[in-house]
Amino acid sequence: AVQGLKDYYKDYFPIGVAVAPRSLQGDQAELILQQFNSLTPENAMKMGPIHPEPDRYFWDDADAIVQFAQEHGLKVRGHNLCWHEQTPPWLFTDAQGDTVTKEVLLQRLKDHIDAVVTRYKGKIYAWDVVNEAIADDSTQLLRNSAWYQICGEEFITKAFEWAHEADPDAQLYYNDYNTERPEKRERIYQLLKKLVDAGVPIHGVGLQGHWSIYEPTAAELRTAIERFSSLGLDVQVTELDVSVYPWEKFRRPLREGESDAFTAEREQQQLEQYKQVFAIFREHKDVLTSVTFWNISDRYSWLDHYPVEGRKNYPLLFDENLKPKKAYWEVVKF
Ligand code: XIL
Repeated sequence: AVQGLKDYYKDYFPIGVAVAPRSLQGDQAELILQQFNSLTPENAMKMGPIHPEPDRYFWDDADAIVQFAQEHGLKVRGHNLCWHEQTPPWLFTDAQGDTVTKEVLLQRLKDHIDAVVTRYKGKIYAWDVVNEAIADDSTQLLRNSAWYQICGEEFITKAFEWAHEADPDAQLYYNDYNTERPEKRERIYQLLKKLVDAGVPIHGVGLQGHWSIYEPTAAELRTAIERFSSLGLDVQVTELDVSVYPWEKFRRPLREGESDAFTAEREQQQLEQYKQVFAIFREHKDVLTSVTFWNISDRYSWLDHYPVEGRKNYPLLFDENLKPKKAYWEVVKF
């Protein structure tokens, strides 16, 4: 049989991929089974999609992904239980349209976590419990989200405790992006240290890994992994892709004279970035317990639409025809 990423990395860590139910058929399903041994639902388990009304859950998409994983012996990471984006419209308000109290919101969070974690108990080995709660700029520790405005810091601790009660065997993660940038890294560290010191049931930190050919540097990535794991936490790379554009400069459509072609230069820079980050992952295999790609191939990536429409990206290891790119061969050569 053809060797896949999961086979090359069998002595290191599972290799996962973010999926939608529609990718679990045809040539994409074939590629998934050949290359990966872990799945993350790209959207299906987020609060908006899975809990559209106060008393109604929509399980079909999440169930389909978990069932596919079980049939084929893949692990599943749950993503996510508490986030400021993709929330259902009813979450923060009451029937009159007024903002709910802290007590009401925490009760809603508890009910949600109970229902979702219990349904997949024993089938999901790790959960992203809280996603992106740290501020991007350094004026305060936590992001000024509706969660924070209504509940203060407490929602974080509670989310971990309730997830742990619902499935004591699940590994519970705090997940975020730009975790290698020194200032944000230190703010995340502060939050994690507080949780660990208070005995909150948290087992790991997810580095989303929405990177580019320009960042992180090797030193930034090593420091982040070592800093977080010094707290006794596992580290997982949960949403890996390597954009061929700088993160900040391209938050707009292409301008005249700019091209979104996958040039030989971009291909080379991307290959070097992938080679470097995987070498660092392997160095840290004792604490780095999984690497998940955010989407299967360059045929479809969320970055094609984010932050702006109409600018193609090529961030993954497989091309639009699902063939391994040059970067793939660097990742499996060691
Ligand atoms: C993205 C999905 O890939 C898109 O399909 C969706 O429109 C928006 O969310 N950080 C996360 C992920 O934690 O849940 C996000 O996924 C990407 C950024």
